Amino acid sequence: MKSASVFLDKGGVGKTTSTAHFGVALSEQGLDVLLVDLAGKQGDLAKHFGVWTDLPDADERWPNIATVLSDDWSMVKEKIPDAAEDMIVSTAEGPDLIPAHVGLDQVDDDLASVPVPKRYQMLESFLDEDIEPLGYDVVLVDLPGLTNNVTLNGLWATERVVAPVELGEFERQQMAMLKEDIEELSDNFEKDIEIAMIVPNRVDSRTTLADELLEELNEDWNGLVAPASVPKSQDIRNSQRSGETVLARPDDELSATAKRAAESYRANSEALIEEL
Ligand SMILES: Nc1ncnc2c1ncn2[C@@H]1O[C@H](COP(=O)(O)OP(=O)(O)O)[C@@H](O)[C@H]1O
Ligand SMILES: [Mg+2]
Repeated sequence: MKSASVFLDKGGVGKTTSTAHFGVALSEQGLDVLLVDLAGKQGDLAKHFGVWTDLPDADERWPNIATVLSDDWSMVKEKIPDAAEDMIVSTAEGPDLIPAHVGLDQVDDDLASVPVPKRYQMLESFLDEDIEPLGYDVVLVDLPGLTNNVTLNGLWATERVVAPVELGEFERQQMAMLKEDIEELSDNFEKDIEIAMIVPNRVDSRTTLADELLEELNEDWNGLVAPASVPKSQDIRNSQRSGETVLARPDDELSATAKRAAESYRANSEALIEEL
């Protein structure tokens, strides 16, 4: 089972969008894909697939992804052998998904009192012991736009990071910081965490500035920049609002930019699976 976290230490860069689109593009390749939403209680990933409002109320969803990251998990799964399977939701576009839960906030605080390295290993154990036996080929984890204990669980478990970035000087610095953070984490725990792919997102390809910035990104990150940039497309936003990805529609129903976005995700997902 291959896995990656979608992460950049910043909100609104396209992490959830990328997780959803990579997930669908990978399942179009015939892979069994599981997406895990650790990105906060809003349930953005489940909303992206239009399944959030179908879920029972938060207090009826137990056990859930927050339980997985808690001390109770080993006891829970002993009592409820199908606990992991029961929290998986299927989507109309291929990938299965474990939705976020309001309990993730509390769990992040609680993890602070768990001794290291166990504090960072909760998700890894879950993926190894409870998810891998279900036969998934790929797991993608959507992480919060900040580095907290939940984030570190994602990085630890997957060891590979897909980072969506916009093209700009600020983002260039952000990537350098991400690199430092990952190296520090790797050094501290003798853990081999690496960036698997940097995906330029929301690119306005009509500008020469975009070309220059892309060239710079390629210089900084030789070989790790995705083969295709994802253009800025209003259709991505619109599809997300109606609970689907742009990959759900046939090409002839898509605007030119959405069509290019779909092509990019398909090309990038082939490169990603090679990289993982
Ligand atoms: N390539 C794109 N073109 C247009 N809008 C985009 C694109 N990528 C993401 N968005 C929009 O930007 C917003 C933030 O994206 P999101 O994936 O939720 O970011 P994050 O998960 O990093 O916070 C969403 O409304 C999303 O629809
Ligand atoms: Mg998000």
